[in-house]
Amino acid sequence: MQLSTDPSQPAAPGATKAPRHVAIIMDGNGRWAKKRGLPRLAGHREGVGRIQKVLETLDARGVQHVTLFAFSTENWNRPPGEVQGIMDLLSLALKQQTCQLHEKNVRVIHLGSVDQLSPALRQGVAEAQKLTCDNTGVTLNVAFNYGGRDEILEAVRRIIRDQIPPEAVDQRLFSSYLYSAHSPDPDLIIRTGGELRISNFLLWQSAYSEYYHTPTLWPDLEAAELEQALETFASRQRRFGNVTSEA
Ligand code: IPE
Ligand code: IPE
Ligand code: MG
Repeated sequence: MQLSTDPSQPAAPGATKAPRHVAIIMDGNGRWAKKRGLPRLAGHREGVGRIQKVLETLDARGVQHVTLFAFSTENWNRPPGEVQGIMDLLSLALKQQTCQLHEKNVRVIHLGSVDQLSPALRQGVAEAQKLTCDNTGVTLNVAFNYGGRDEILEAVRRIIRDQIPPEAVDQRLFSSYLYSAHSPDPDLIIRTGGELRISNFLLWQSAYSEYYHTPTLWPDLEAAELEQALETFASRQRRFGNVTSEA
């Protein structure tokens, strides 16, 4: 296997031009709604509407893997009405957008546990994955009921269940047990909504990711700012702990 295509390996030092994998913490839906005197769910609805455009922009820039953080394991603590509303929005988005994504050759993959999801939502997720599994365009990972710590614990459980000998557990094997095994580590993580924290997102995979954060609320994120994030990424010097020839 070539190093550059190994999902468990970071890109080579200096290889910063176009990110292979962009992951986004889509934050700020509630505040977007509040600013307009609308219920929080209106912000979530607007947020879902923003996804298609963002995917188009990233696809046009040659990004091959996109991960969207849509619902965390901690988001269950929100008021039941908001949680149910978000579940309903995801069901609807799956119904309305899976065919379009399939036509665009997008491969849709769910990151997270389906255990707490309703049977109907589980079925929707399974159908979207099945329909698009052979697509060769952008891989769209939807992190829904996803938590980085849970993902790591689940990987540990599966490694133990598979009776892998301790000496065989290295970084490559561990990565292959994560929900994200099919994608390389994210090169760039974007967080909208102004917070400067990771909120349990891709804890293992983000070891050497570059960050871009913006106060812009997710429903307001325009293509121009996304381009700005990609340009900022291209100007970063990734060292992966090494030194550069200029240093
Ligand atoms: C992100 O927007 C979406 C989810 C976490 C589901 P928020 O709902 O967190 O929006 P703010 O941060 O309250 O504005
Ligand atoms: C992170 O946003 C999770 C998602 C965007 C799905 P949160 O709004 O849940 O994060 P905190 O609570 O501000 O850390
Ligand atoms: Mg938030």
